[in-house]
Amino acid sequence: MLQTELAYRINGGEPVVGQITALGAKNFATKAMVAALLADTPSELINVPPIGDVAITRDMLAAIGVDVQVQGETMRIDPARIRSSSVPIPDSGSNRIPILLLGALLHRFDEVAVPVVGGCKIGERPVDFHLTAIEQFGGTVTTTAQGYVARRAGRLRGTQITLPYPSVGATETCLFLGVLAEGRTVIANAAVEPEISELITLLRAMGAVIFTSAGREIKIEGVARLSGARMPILGDRIEAASWACLAGASDGDITVHGINPNNLGNFLAHFQQVGGGFELLDRDTVRFFRRTRLSPAVVETDVYPGFSTDWQQPFAIMLTQANGISIIHETVYENRFGYLKALNQLGANTQLTTHCLGGLPCRFKDKGHEHSAIIVGTTPLRAEGHVITIPDLRAGLAYIIAAAIARGTSIIRGVHLLERGYGDVVPRLSRMNLKIERVPFNALR
Ligand code: EPU
Repeated sequence: MLQTELAYRINGGEPVVGQITALGAKNFATKAMVAALLADTPSELINVPPIGDVAITRDMLAAIGVDVQVQGETMRIDPARIRSSSVPIPDSGSNRIPILLLGALLHRFDEVAVPVVGGCKIGERPVDFHLTAIEQFGGTVTTTAQGYVARRAGRLRGTQITLPYPSVGATETCLFLGVLAEGRTVIANAAVEPEISELITLLRAMGAVIFTSAGREIKIEGVARLSGARMPILGDRIEAASWACLAGASDGDITVHGINPNNLGNFLAHFQQVGGGFELLDRDTVRFFRRTRLSPAVVETDVYPGFSTDWQQPFAIMLTQANGISIIHETVYENRFGYLKALNQLGANTQLTTHCLGGLPCRFKDKGHEHSAIIVGTTPLRAEGHVITIPDLRAGLAYIIAAAIARGTSIIRGVHLLERGYGDVVPRLSRMNLKIERVPFNALR
């Protein structure tokens, strides 16, 4: 059956003012669901967001026999009756999770097959670190046209791994492999994003023995079994930063609940430097507003604790309202500026270059990728029924911010991509006086 394509219609141009709660973080919720498969007993996750990526992950787990029960924001995952080690792509789609399932399920089965990974097209996104890690733990991996098959003979063995780059996903794969492997595992050059710290806490609550140190090194003493645990999902720091940028870009005033400001790290410094302001109202409530006229910035995305690659899109929209020339150098993904071209239709003045602008040369130097952006402001944005199509999830929220500050009506297509990572967008934004509707695209023509 053909599904009706839905689009957002936004009438912008007014400051966005109000209160919003950051939902549970997509990039931890889906990983916690995988972690639950390492246990012998059920786990319970609280504050699970109602988003597409969680639904896709739930459908993958259900397809191999995991019992997943959802009641409101609580999810109970019982892996006791997993019956298949061959993960299909469910009707709901694919995401980045299959490659994590490959390592996690390899403790339970001596052969595991997963499909090729999906997720946003923001670069090549190879999975070589994951595959090498499985081999270092004593498994073998075959790549097929459909996906990956991992095998093992006997229990996986702890190992010493130095990741070529502090990849979030590869660190997660190493954690999943190490906690139940025989003996000690050392992961050097590991990712240290807040979602990784949360995953370590969850695995410890399940019985894993994991030591972290001041550098990017994680030591694991493998255990024979893990039991289920109960854990709330932390508030989404990417959502929270996006609402901050919405306040800054629209000259509004937004109070975000459900966010630990420590997890916003250097975002808060950059936000203040360009003229944003914030106030800590309580331990997990932050009010964001514009303190002064916005000024330009030079920003380089990086792994944590650097400025997250997932923050650059909403920040770029705010920079269109800053007086002068700003630069963003994207060093994590080689192709994450696709969204800027459509913004120029609304009146922004942006340009992409293949050079490493503003900072040190990065991994993408001289490779021909347009990974630096120049944004010239201030440019008032205007929409006259413009239709813009979302290229990837984070760009989707950036388009909402652009449409919110643009005078006139914007139509945003491709909202299913955005809804993979953001839940209840329309009701939550409507409560902050943004004129946004979710309508069939056909009805708009
Ligand atoms: N990389 C490799 N080989 C690998 C793994 C990674 O070369 O085997 C490279 C990637 O191509 C990229 C860099 O390492 O250039 C970093 O990738 P990483 O593995 O850290 O990314 P990921 O785990 O696939 C997660 C988030 C992303 C977020 C990044 C960086 C999830 C599901 N996704 O991706 O979030 O941008 O970490 O923090 O956790 C999003 O939510 O929209 C999103 C893209």
